[in-house]
Amino acid sequence: MTVLITGANRGIGAALVSAYAARGETAIGTARKSANGLWPLDVTRPEEFAALTDRLATTDLSLLVCNAGIYSDKGRTIDDLEPEIWAEAYATNVTGAFLTIRACLPALRRGKGKIALISSAMASDARAPGGAYIYRSSKAALLNLGRNLAKDLEIPVGIYHPGWVQTDMGGAGADITVDQAVDGLVARFDELSPQTTGIFQSYDGTTIPF
Ligand SMILES: NC(=O)c1ccc[n+]([C@@H]2O[C@H](COP(=O)([O-])OP(=O)(O)OC[C@H]3O[C@@H](n4cnc5c(N)ncnc54)[C@H](OP(=O)(O)O)[C@@H]3O)[C@@H](O)[C@H]2O)c1
Repeated sequence: MTVLITGANRGIGAALVSAYAARGETAIGTARKSANGLWPLDVTRPEEFAALTDRLATTDLSLLVCNAGIYSDKGRTIDDLEPEIWAEAYATNVTGAFLTIRACLPALRRGKGKIALISSAMASDARAPGGAYIYRSSKAALLNLGRNLAKDLEIPVGIYHPGWVQTDMGGAGADITVDQAVDGLVARFDELSPQTTGIFQSYDGTTIPF
């Protein structure tokens, strides 16, 4: 099994690489500052995706995890949401995931693989408590992208909430550890199948309302 995970230099992405490696799988991590064997990929730079496709030319990919993401409006008020902050979030959380998927499609088709998108429960329209407009709407766009790709691709696509996780993004006061999040996510990715494509699920298996 060969797995590719974006945003793998820290947080959930790094822990996913470790978890798959510990299971004896080939785990390819990517990062915008490549080091420690990570492949270079800044998902906001469209010119970098051809090199990713080339590097995967002889790889049969079993799983792609689009994990790279930013929460650029965390702590900002409505008066402090400049267009550049919207643009960066959408370039990372939405376009970045789409371009990653497209670059990996040949390898995923060869490997009869699956796609996991790390969105957030904050993407849910049914649960819209207000605030965090940029993060919520960009993760909702990622959810929508995943739901539609699930119809169009022969490749199973799952959309996931990792929990509120103790990372740089989640903060030290978050609900669960990175290991708890990753144990759950790996189990969810294992379960993903053509029958469940399009699912929007939490790390613990709970279905999240759209
Ligand atoms: N933590 C939570 O509670 C929580 C909850 C719901 C959803 N999520 C989602 O889970 C995913 C991982 O979050 P995390 O908690 O591990 O966050 P994190 O600790 O902030 O890590 C984010 C990762 O994304 C990478 N990244 C950001 N922009 C990138 C770009 N342009 N190109 C490539 N990589 C980029 C970062 O790389 P750099 O080091 O270069 O910045 C880092 O490796 C994100 O999609 C996040 O939205 C997290």
